[in-house]
Amino acid sequence: MPIGRGKFITFEGIDGAGKSTHIATVVELLRARGLDVVATREPGGTPLGERLRELLLHEPMHPETEALLMFAARREHLARVIEPALSNGVWVVCDRFSDATYAYQGGGRGLDKARFASLEHWVHGHLQPDLTFLFDLPPEVAGERIARQGRALDKFERERADFHERVRRAYLERAASALRRIRVVNAGQGVEEIGKIIGETVMTHCLATEA
Ligand code: TYD
Repeated sequence: MPIGRGKFITFEGIDGAGKSTHIATVVELLRARGLDVVATREPGGTPLGERLRELLLHEPMHPETEALLMFAARREHLARVIEPALSNGVWVVCDRFSDATYAYQGGGRGLDKARFASLEHWVHGHLQPDLTFLFDLPPEVAGERIARQGRALDKFERERADFHERVRRAYLERAASALRRIRVVNAGQGVEEIGKIIGETVMTHCLATEA
């Protein structure tokens, strides 16, 4: 029997919205059902992508350079990890993807989002996530969560509150234009409630068609 394509699930949200725990839960849930799963992240996910991540998160650069490097890392990630996995029936769970460029470089940095549409078409015109969870939370609350972790902050986490407010707004606008793909999750709820919503959504949106 030919192997079906894997599904592509992404997680998005402002910094500090708490997606990491839930990414791990989804990966476990899928593996428990006997599926092959790759857990990966952007920027990053390949040796070159991880080197670009270091630069992107810590090196000052022009906003357009930042956007172009995000897409360059993404091209590498798609070619070496995401596309081969999906074609081999492996599911891909990815911490951030192109929605983050629309939100951070478009909303946050104020770059023209129409430009990203052409880059997106070039880099992955043929492919979009099957399902995206957008963790939504007021930036003040997210900022407090990050501060409590007491770790060193990256370039984006050090941005002012209005930057994160613009990122949040751009994410919500994008969700409004892709209602079927993007599921907005109120990240102010408890871990268990969020886990339940995510588990049910993955079941109905992705696994129901697997049987
Ligand atoms: P993040 O997943 O938050 O890393 P960590 O879990 O280690 O905090 O992602 C790193 C940062 O990269 C995050 O602040 C958002 C930013 N980013 C963009 O600005 N544009 C993009 O296209 C992507 C993928 C990420």
